[in-house]
Amino acid sequence: MKNNFEWKYSPAPESTEHIKIDPRYDLFINGKFVKPLSKTYFETSDPATGKMLASMAHANEKDVNTAVLAAKTAYDKTWKKMPGKERGKYIFRIARMIQERAREFAIIESLNGGKPIRESRDFDIPLAANHFSYYAGWADKLDYAFPNRTPKSLGVVGQIIPWNFPLLMAAWKIAPALATGNTVVLKPAETTSLTALKLAELIRDCDLPPGVVNIVTGFGNTGAALVNHSLVNKIAFTGSTGVGKLIQKSIAGTSKKLSLELGGKGAHLVFDDAPINQAVEGIVNGIFFNQGHVCCAGSRLYVQENVASEVITKLKARMQTLIVGDPLDKNTDIGAINSEGQLKKIKDYIQLGKNEGLEIYQPECGIPTKGFFCKPTLIIGAGQSSRLVQEEIFGPVLSIQTFRTIEEVIEKANQVPYGLSAGVWTDKGSKIFNLTSKLRAGVIWANTYNKFDPTSPFGGYKESGFGREGGLHGLQPYLSF
Ligand code: NAI
Ligand code: MG
Repeated sequence: MKNNFEWKYSPAPESTEHIKIDPRYDLFINGKFVKPLSKTYFETSDPATGKMLASMAHANEKDVNTAVLAAKTAYDKTWKKMPGKERGKYIFRIARMIQERAREFAIIESLNGGKPIRESRDFDIPLAANHFSYYAGWADKLDYAFPNRTPKSLGVVGQIIPWNFPLLMAAWKIAPALATGNTVVLKPAETTSLTALKLAELIRDCDLPPGVVNIVTGFGNTGAALVNHSLVNKIAFTGSTGVGKLIQKSIAGTSKKLSLELGGKGAHLVFDDAPINQAVEGIVNGIFFNQGHVCCAGSRLYVQENVASEVITKLKARMQTLIVGDPLDKNTDIGAINSEGQLKKIKDYIQLGKNEGLEIYQPECGIPTKGFFCKPTLIIGAGQSSRLVQEEIFGPVLSIQTFRTIEEVIEKANQVPYGLSAGVWTDKGSKIFNLTSKLRAGVIWANTYNKFDPTSPFGGYKESGFGREGGLHGLQPYLSF
């Protein structure tokens, strides 16, 4: 099919002139940036160009120990005793300061993570600020949140986050932990720590008592040191199912609390009475924007047989219009894949589809020759047991299957190891209610996709993890009763 949008937008890149990235970042411990005892640093780069952006400290066990001790002291001496109303003021202040510096955060997020500026500017950063505002509001109302129960804070919490929503995941973790009276040691992902370090600067500047939030950069061994530290009372982890299982094993037999938000293989269920154009838009939004680097991405499409060819034709036409390229360009729909390793993983899955003899569709669009980019891809007709249907690809790749009956599609949608998200597309409200109670997914959207709000809990079933983030539910993992 020929691209019917012959005209092109002129490039509209966001300027990076007013942002400031230091050449080197140390560890944020006890309210200050301190040199790592490990004496080692590693580099972080822009996945769209390969350009080095900064180097940052690689924290070892001793550094993690220093951070945990700072958090423990801050908990015992200050934070535990502070009335909720006062804690809330600090959290509100963080929210306001993120809003004030939203543009700077958005640009750095796109530079370091590869996501389109439209996503970081309109979604990640505003939602991160909203999470702080929302949980600030709970800080003085915990006694009313759980009637007839007396919530108590846990102490020091260790939080480990991934690279797909760097600032937003930091907000999802830090905001409820502070609101509930805990102190934090956070480890951001190794490829995308810059906005967490910017957040550290902001936390320092907002006069939060030293040690209440500590941020240690590093790799898997840094995360493991945090998980295994005896003074950490709770671990909150978002990332791969493999590492989630490792963490669960290593804290087994201890009294540490744990919440895990792991992978997903979200299914769209499109019925023949669905608003088809709207569904196509939702599907595109759910898997292609943000390069499919979304744990709740709608990476499987089940479409009712009698509308399958219409849906697939419209999807292909819409994909022809998607712009893959410079993350900082306001017109870009699909930015850079976060790392070389992740791009290889995605390409291997596409090759698997080719090897299985499946129909693979990619639009004719060009992609930059430098950096890590991947065209949006459809894989049509894979069997339910195929790895393409069962495994999380974490890239802009959508597998498509058809179905005839409701029973059949519910069975297929549930027949994966994950249970994080699903999308139902139908005109009929009764069908939505009937279906959603049978889908084993933590979040289900109806006639829309990937909508988020701090008041709404998020989390999974089965290998997608346990515990909820967001809303009233998101307070519980940080409290004991
Ligand atoms: P990962 O699970 O290795 O990384 C997530 C975080 O865990 C990072 O901060 C990392 O440094 C840390 N970590 C790694 N090993 C650790 C250990 N042994 N103990 C404690 N912390 C540790 O994820 P990775 O390797 O970056 O991505 C692999 C796959 O995982 C992706 O292709 C995707 O399928 C999935 N993933 C899912 C995410 C989600 O949001 N659910 C986010 C990122 C990746
Ligand atoms: Mg890993």
